[in-house]
Amino acid sequence: MERTLLWQAKQDYLAQCLKRTLNVPGLTAEIGVYLGGTTRFIATNNHGKAHIAADTFGPGIIGATSKDQHVNGDFNVNGNEVLNYLHVLPNVIPIVGYFPQSFQYVHARYSFVHVDLDTYQGTVDSLDYFWDKLNTGGILLYDDWQWDNCKGVTEALQEFLTKVPAHFEQGQHQLALTKQ
Ligand SMILES: C[S@@+](CC[C@H](N)C(=O)[O-])C[C@H]1O[C@@H](n2cnc3c(N)ncnc32)[C@H](O)[C@@H]1O
Repeated sequence: MERTLLWQAKQDYLAQCLKRTLNVPGLTAEIGVYLGGTTRFIATNNHGKAHIAADTFGPGIIGATSKDQHVNGDFNVNGNEVLNYLHVLPNVIPIVGYFPQSFQYVHARYSFVHVDLDTYQGTVDSLDYFWDKLNTGGILLYDDWQWDNCKGVTEALQEFLTKVPAHFEQGQHQLALTKQ
């Protein structure tokens, strides 16, 4: 995989989780696209499903708080360059802007969502938004679980697991939540 921050073992775990969900109905999505490498991988290996690619596409992180090690503006990129890189993939639907407001007019159900926002608030919002929209057998895969530079992500996931009895499995500083 090119253009991703995920090291090889993380890429392998993502691929494994995606594969497990291929027979589950629903779209795939990535929230936190950065340079587009993981979105390209998911979109080209999801058996032709529509794939939503959501990011600010330019300004980088928005919504960081004192719970996070990253700050607003981290991971800023040339958004047009990333959108051009993804443009060749006919099943990719880019959603540009601040998540979750950017999903205001999106109505879909999902089989696999990779969430890689690096913040407490982004993780809370994505759990609120996607868990109920995940079909049975679907997976919400979080990056940065128990990663020292993203403590807010772990905190938000731990809070969620105290409230919702979700089936979870740990990857390489990744957490996969499966809808049963
Ligand atoms: C660590 S990067 C994603 C890395 C990417 N998945 C990869 O494999 O290389 C985090 C991304 O989340 C995006 N992001 C963070 N908070 C966001 C928010 N609230 N709405 C939209 N995008 C956000 C940033 O713009 C950045 O591109």
